[in-house]
Amino acid sequence: MALLDILIFPDKRLRTVAAPVEQFDDGLQQLIDDMFETMYDAPGIGLAATQINVHQQVVVMDLSEAKNEPQVFINPKILQEAGEEEMQEGCLSIPTVYETIKRSETVTVEALDRNGKKYRLDADGLLAVCIQHEVDHLLGKMFVDYLSPLKRDRIRKKMTKLIRDQES
Ligand code: NI
Repeated sequence: MALLDILIFPDKRLRTVAAPVEQFDDGLQQLIDDMFETMYDAPGIGLAATQINVHQQVVVMDLSEAKNEPQVFINPKILQEAGEEEMQEGCLSIPTVYETIKRSETVTVEALDRNGKKYRLDADGLLAVCIQHEVDHLLGKMFVDYLSPLKRDRIRKKMTKLIRDQES
């Protein structure tokens, strides 16, 4: 397994729209394992392939305390969403920034597991928020897109400074 570099906003590659996965081969299994290792190490609760500069529709997630409930969403599609909910969100591509974002309260998602088997899931609470956040990544969208241009610009400057400080 290997730790992968996570792209940081406003890196333009985060705006790439991911393509559907077609091959459930060893390469995909390796990618999923590496994504879990990277997410747990960060530490985070969700990671989209877009964030590690792989533009395929792959999301990994683990919302459990013990970090022993890995969930994989390949080619996820939100079939239904309802209600409204506000929750504070963070993102491994926008470190140290947390903002309250309005999302749907419940979602029904259809996805493939790591073996290509289709499943459907009804989600609410944190899981529903995470699914919407990660599916957005696959579409090249980020939570800062829901904020005012002023706030987004402030975050952009903060991240640019953070990257500069890390490099120097
Ligand atoms: Ni994110």
